[in-house]
Amino acid sequence: MGNQSLLEAHHLGKHFGGLRALNQVSLNILRGEIFGLIGPNGAGKTTLFNLITGIYPPDEGTLFFNQQPLNGLKTHQITRAGIARTFQNIRLFSQMSALENVMVGCHPRTRTGVWGALFNTASARAEEAMILARAHALLKTCGLSQQAQRQAYQLSYGDQRRLEIARALATEPQLLALDEPAAGLNHTETEALKTLLLHLNAQGMTLLLIEHDVKLVMGLCDRMAVLDFGEKIAEGSPREVRQNPHVIKAYLGTDPIDEPAPVNPS
Ligand SMILES: Nc1ncnc2c1ncn2[C@@H]1O[C@H](COP(=O)(O)OP(=O)(O)OP(=O)(O)O)[C@@H](O)[C@H]1O
Ligand SMILES: [Mg+2]
Repeated sequence: MGNQSLLEAHHLGKHFGGLRALNQVSLNILRGEIFGLIGPNGAGKTTLFNLITGIYPPDEGTLFFNQQPLNGLKTHQITRAGIARTFQNIRLFSQMSALENVMVGCHPRTRTGVWGALFNTASARAEEAMILARAHALLKTCGLSQQAQRQAYQLSYGDQRRLEIARALATEPQLLALDEPAAGLNHTETEALKTLLLHLNAQGMTLLLIEHDVKLVMGLCDRMAVLDFGEKIAEGSPREVRQNPHVIKAYLGTDPIDEPAPVNPS
């Protein structure tokens, strides 16, 4: 892993009316790492994702991606810059097949304009074939080849979560931000997710992971930060965070957190 900064947040602030959802939050996510974000309900985790992906502008602070400022960019521009995300509440095109959902995700990277598509030019056909092949490859990566032709709503919850990841990957991100990808998953599905995330990271993908499953996040992450009432109260390796008294008080409770079982990166 290098130590080159991929995403930098400097003193981010966001309020909704009188509620301060984020206050002076700074983060530095390095290329190639798995960075975890934890914190109690309402701590501001999703709000941070919404600022990073341009859903809301920050009220204060700045964001840099690859040393370029993100402030002022629209969501599709941020996608093109190389940030993809999944949502806490799954957002798929439920009536479309798994394959089509991923193909939609490929479109931010396509070149064919309206005229090429309208006149079915050779380059438009070649691009469509490329998208199809790429979508199949991503479904395979995410363990969903068998589900390619099924409509999204017919898939199990675990498969839907991994389909969202496949669709996010279709935008060819450098940073994949996952908002509670294990929420609602059973043990087997969580294990499949963990294997997938480790595989993606081994291929070079930088991951930013919000997760309530503390053991999962601590077992996966290189570094992590803890938010509480919109403020960053801790940052460091899982071991450091686990021992941080502020974190234990605010979030983890008085019980010591077990060492997570070592993960098998194969
Ligand atoms: N669009 C909005 N309008 C008003 N308040 C909002 C909005 N989005 C978030 N909030 C509030 O900001 C605070 C932070 O919310 P956020 O969704 O970021 O928390 P979270 O850490 O993701 O929580 P959870 O673990 O429950 O998903 C909460 O009090 C929430 O109610
Ligand atoms: Mg949230």
